Amino acid sequence: MCLKYLVYKRALCGEVSLPFGFPQNRNAIFPRSHRTVNVCACAYFNSTMAASFGVCRLPMSGSGKFIKLCHGAVPQTQRRLATSTSALPSRTEKQASTAAKGSASFQAIQEERREQAERSVLISCPAKINENKFLDELTKHGTIDKHFFYNSYGTYAVVEFSSRESIASLKESTNIPAVQHEAAVPFKSRLLALKQTGSGSHPVPNFQDQSPPSINDLIKLLSEQDSIDEQLQCLTKALELSEENISLRFLVCSLLRDIAGAYFPECIIRPFGSTVNSFGKLGCDLDMFLDLDGIYASNQKTQGSGLSMEYQVKRGASERVVTQSILSVIGECVDKFGPGCVGVQKILQARCPLVRFAHQPSGFPCDLTANNRVAMKSSELLFLYGTLDPRVRQLVFSVRCWARVHAITSSIPGAWITNFSLTVMVLFFLQQRSPAILPTLDQLMELAGPSDKCVIEGNDCTIVSDVSKITMQNNTDTLLKLLQEFFEFYGNFPFKKSSINIRKGKEEIKPETSPLYIQNPFEITLNISKNVNATQLERFVVLCRESAWLLQQGEVLNRSSNQTADSVPAWGFAALLLPSVTSGAGVKSRRKKKLEPASSRIKNLLDSLKIKGGDTAAKKGSANLRR
Ligand code: GTP
Ligand code: MG
Repeated sequence: MCLKYLVYKRALCGEVSLPFGFPQNRNAIFPRSHRTVNVCACAYFNSTMAASFGVCRLPMSGSGKFIKLCHGAVPQTQRRLATSTSALPSRTEKQASTAAKGSASFQAIQEERREQAERSVLISCPAKINENKFLDELTKHGTIDKHFFYNSYGTYAVVEFSSRESIASLKESTNIPAVQHEAAVPFKSRLLALKQTGSGSHPVPNFQDQSPPSINDLIKLLSEQDSIDEQLQCLTKALELSEENISLRFLVCSLLRDIAGAYFPECIIRPFGSTVNSFGKLGCDLDMFLDLDGIYASNQKTQGSGLSMEYQVKRGASERVVTQSILSVIGECVDKFGPGCVGVQKILQARCPLVRFAHQPSGFPCDLTANNRVAMKSSELLFLYGTLDPRVRQLVFSVRCWARVHAITSSIPGAWITNFSLTVMVLFFLQQRSPAILPTLDQLMELAGPSDKCVIEGNDCTIVSDVSKITMQNNTDTLLKLLQEFFEFYGNFPFKKSSINIRKGKEEIKPETSPLYIQNPFEITLNISKNVNATQLERFVVLCRESAWLLQQGEVLNRSSNQTADSVPAWGFAALLLPSVTSGAGVKSRRKKKLEPASSRIKNLLDSLKIKGGDTAAKKGSANLRR
């Protein structure tokens, strides 16, 4: 992995400031006026928390606004939509309405968004753009269905026309810029720049936030809620991808498709992972795969005359070799011709070859893969689980947030637990409840109809598409109970001998000795957490135990009633996000306060921390936070 790229990626995520010695490329990625990458107020949180919330990736237009808007009285749609945005249904509304239609709708939703993206353009605008004049100009080319503005190292607008003809008309009237002392690559993409002569006038549009709240704002917001259940619901709303952010993600895929389409006109670039699996957090990366199936689909043609025609093609030694050469060429084009695509790295020797880059106008770190259908199916599976019960997403968002704050997960590849693994662990835990909150993957397969049959590279990836066939059991556990028991469950899980298997919905004997074994849902001989080492697993277990213990404490569990809204100390889930939770010193000082007696089970857990060297791991965690 190229260190330089990692630094860029981390800087883009707000994790680090770019070090001295990166001036040239730093300018390419962060224009001078937008170079403040680390806005996290609290120095303590700077490294890990800024990373976890991506707080610095896109400039915030005022955290106060976020706090005001998230008080619960304002529905999510209103909260996220600027006045300049036409009324889009909120992601949650849309998801709720489509949940009933089930997994088939997952495909339908993706298709709809893809089609919308193809009718859209991304326009860099002057900072003081007059919105009315802007719309007058654009509507010369046709009716606009939706539009919104956002700031990301510059001011941008996403405009979705009603028809694709409008794009052709707009492109017709757009110039290739005349550049002095340099030469322009005359590539006519749908990333445009609007130039304005004279100063701007009102009305200036409202700008969409594309970044999550800072950790301090989030802790404050959570602490103002009245119950832990409300905290977890509020956290999900604060962090989930907005409808506009998802549209922007599909638009970036569509812009890249235009590049790849020069070679493979039938190709599609599809987003997968957290962009579409319903667990995406503002600031998460954009995982994409180049889908060439449309080309192979045309193989079915027969002439009836006994004659058939074939394309003469180049051949590679294996599918992997072909994938590598396609990605290599597309990566080169993205690098040389892709407007706004910077820091392009071709990582072709990875198990799953990819091209990694930053898309500057959107602020998204991007991974482009090819031939990655199983990952797409995993995204669909996670989406399906996310729609079955609202507590699934709320628990996943909370656990992912908690893990990121404490550096259990990271945006950098390494020996830590990934968000994907963590999500599967939450799903597995929910399958263990009595009655179970989620069905097993085997059950989802049994319910599948003939049209759901799906085999990818020899792996049976069939899952039911008609959600109405799934009978949910009547489990009424509160989020607080689920959170507490999640921590206890994994604080005590026999990782040494057992594996996690959501297909069977039960622990199984580990087939090999990796510290953490989570069976890949579809490629069942693989372990999705093979990368995790014993130290990282131990940190996770220790943190689970501490968090379970903390949630037993009256001081943490209850909001102080005599505090004003401005001075509410972090409590409930917000308290679990404080750095001291992971530090040995923090736990000791909490113990000294002689809080309410913990249950004997939790006391035992704490004792086992001492025995198993938990202090050491906890200290490492704390050092990690300070870095
Ligand atoms: P973020 O951390 O928010 O980006 O979550 P994510 O779910 O997008 O994870 P990531 O970007 O690491 O990976 C993207 C997708 O690739 C996941 O959602 C999975 O579908 C798939 N994936 C990631 N890791 C593995 C793995 O180890 N095995 C398999 N089979 N799929 C994986
Ligand atoms: Mg991802």
